[in-house]
Amino acid sequence: MNEKSVENINRIKEIQRLKEEKNAVILAHYYQESEIQDVADFIGDSLELSRRAKETEADIILFAGVHFMAETAKILNPNKKVLIPDLNAGCSLSDATPPPLFKKFREEHPDHLAITYINCSAGVKALSDIICTSSNSVKIVSQIPKEQKILFSPDRNLGRFVMKQTGRDMLLWDGSCIVHETFSREKMLRLKGEFQGAKIIAHPECEVGILKEADFIGSTSALLNFVKTDPGTEYLIATEPGIIHQMEKQAPGKRYIPVPPEQECPCNKCPHMALNTMEKVYLSLLNEQPEILLDEEIIRKALIPIERMLEMS
Ligand code: 13P
Ligand code: SF4
Repeated sequence: MNEKSVENINRIKEIQRLKEEKNAVILAHYYQESEIQDVADFIGDSLELSRRAKETEADIILFAGVHFMAETAKILNPNKKVLIPDLNAGCSLSDATPPPLFKKFREEHPDHLAITYINCSAGVKALSDIICTSSNSVKIVSQIPKEQKILFSPDRNLGRFVMKQTGRDMLLWDGSCIVHETFSREKMLRLKGEFQGAKIIAHPECEVGILKEADFIGSTSALLNFVKTDPGTEYLIATEPGIIHQMEKQAPGKRYIPVPPEQECPCNKCPHMALNTMEKVYLSLLNEQPEILLDEEIIRKALIPIERMLEMS
C-alpha cells in the first residue's frame, strides 16, 4: 500500500471518529467527488437532502454540496450547526440572481407568483412565494390555478422544460448553469451513433437541443433510479459526471458515458462542487468551520416558501 492510500484510509477513519464524537451527519450531493460520497451518511438530490436536513437529530450537519444547499439546511433546521467544507462553493444560477435585482423583477410584475428554483441564495428565497427543485417543479407548477401568472427563476432551461410539460406560460429569469449549458449536442449524437442502443438521460438544466434528444429527463435522483430500473445497458449521461459513481455502485455492470462539453475542457465538472475535498471535509469537522450563519429574519422569511414546496411535493 502506498503512502497516499494510507493517508486516505487514516483520513476516512478520522472523519468517522469525529462524526461519532460530535454527533455529526454528513449529507452529500451526487456531484461530490467519489470519496466524499463514500463517507456520507446520506446522498441525494436537492429535495431529498433538504428533507434529511430538516429531519436529522444530529447536532452538526456537514453539508458536502454547494452554498445554497447548506443554507437551505440551516433554514430548515436553524438550531443545528451547519458546516460546509468550502464556503466559496457557489453556483452560477445563484450568482446570476442577486436579491436586489430579483426584488426589482418582482416589483415590475406585482401580479405574478414567484416560483423559484432552490438554486438561489437565502435572500432570493426570502423574496419568493414557492421554492421548487428539479424533481418537483412540474408537480408544483401544475398545482397553480391556470389564471395565475408565474415568474420562474433563475434557470431558464428548467423553466422552459416545465412550460413544455405543463403547457403553462411563465415569465423566465435569464439564468443558466455553467455546467449543463456546455454539453455538445453534436458530440452527443456522434456518441449515440457509436453506441447504438445507448439511451440519453439528461438533467432538465440542459439546453433544449440536448433535452429534445433525451430518452429520459429528471433530477439527479431520478436519473439514478432510471438506470437502476431500466433494462438497458448503455447510457449517455447529460449531467455532472459525479453521479456516475453512484450509478456504477447501485446499477453495476452497465456502461455510463459522460456527454462531452463543446470545448476541449473539463467544463462538464462543476467547479463549485469540486472545491470540496476530503481534506476540507475532515478539517471542517475537526474545527467546526466554516459555518453557515444566517440572519434570523432571512431564515424566517425563506422558510415560508420552502415549507410550501415541501407541502406541495
Ligand atoms: P438536483 O436537485 O437534481 O440534484 O440538482 C441540483 C443541481 O445543482 C443540478 O445542477
Ligand atoms: Fe450550480 Fe450548475 Fe454546479 Fe448545479 S452543476 S451547483 S446548477 S453550477
